[in-house]
Amino acid sequence: MKAFKTLVVLTIALITYTSCKEKTVAVVEEEIPSLKASYENDFLIGSALNGRQINEEDSVQNALIAREFNSYTAENIMKSMHIHPAKDTFNFEMPDKLFALAEKNGAKVHGHTLIWHSQLSSFFYGIKDSTEMVSAMTDHINTIAGRYAGKLDSWDVVNEAVEGDGSLRKSVFLNVLGEDYLPLSFKLAAAADPQADLYYNDYSMTGEAKRKGVIEMVKKIQESGAKIDGIGMQGHWHLDSPSLEEIETSILEYAALGVKVAITELDIDVLPNPRNVEGADISQRAEIDAQNNPYVNGLPDSINVALAKRYEDLFKLFLKHSDKISRVTLWGVNDGDSWKNNFPARGRTNYCLLFDRNNQPKKAYESVMALKENKE
Ligand code: XIL
Repeated sequence: MKAFKTLVVLTIALITYTSCKEKTVAVVEEEIPSLKASYENDFLIGSALNGRQINEEDSVQNALIAREFNSYTAENIMKSMHIHPAKDTFNFEMPDKLFALAEKNGAKVHGHTLIWHSQLSSFFYGIKDSTEMVSAMTDHINTIAGRYAGKLDSWDVVNEAVEGDGSLRKSVFLNVLGEDYLPLSFKLAAAADPQADLYYNDYSMTGEAKRKGVIEMVKKIQESGAKIDGIGMQGHWHLDSPSLEEIETSILEYAALGVKVAITELDIDVLPNPRNVEGADISQRAEIDAQNNPYVNGLPDSINVALAKRYEDLFKLFLKHSDKISRVTLWGVNDGDSWKNNFPARGRTNYCLLFDRNNQPKKAYESVMALKENKE
């Protein structure tokens, strides 16, 4: 804020000076503070965009997205069930719009996601034969990653391949090809788009058993000679878990593999956790009851303050390790957009993000911005 105030004072002084001296009207060049400008020397600041946002339906949100974020991830429209709904059908209309929007706003695009067991195009489930699976994966990755090669910044090549206990998830890919499907995915992506940074992305990445499993898997991918540039920690977290220590240990252990670390889907759930659903397995949904949905009429100030503190602590940690962190992406623009209103229980009122339902910055936004302002 100090830099902004100084700029305003200097601008007013300049106008006064020029209008007295030369009787000309000076143009006030306003420097609008934003997340992306504040953190531009640290890491990219991203947001997931839904279909309405990619279609630029709301002028207030259009401006907010252009102003605050310099990396866009499609929340859904690049998942296989949408982009490749049948064996010989690709649907590029919405992804193309996302790239056009990013180009217009000078933002990067992070691709989400090539190989994922969930929101998976149904034809993959019918494949039982390994030759057929290799050919389907090759076609899928070549066609999609090839189309955006040179335009796209980074891909989530494989999403959520590891279970909480560290074992490999029994997806259709593992069942048909065994663990070879992992290096194969990275090799295919590198061939289709040699410039893109290639990531492995997952939730609950701070749990010890899962972390070990992910590290072992990434080492095997590296040993196979495949290129893997980064690890994405989704960051679907809560007000008091995981702990900052667990998050820091995880960032350090992943970075020690010689890869970048990204916080890829950050949101902080402020609601009670029904049936203690851990992580972000989207097949788990809990029944909703009144007790589980306490803030329908607004967020109590105490929780709003706790949320701001949580975001402040997290961004302080991310700044401490900014040499290892490439990008921090929020999973949605405003609280109304957040998938956490419907997960793990449907139809609740959650407050996970930095902007409220009217696109106004919350205390959490101010606390994240203040971390940079105080340093100037
Ligand atoms: C979520 C979307 O936000 C929802 O709109 C959709 O209904 C389900 O998927 N991990 C991921 C994301 O990698 O793609 C998921 O996104 C959230 C969990």
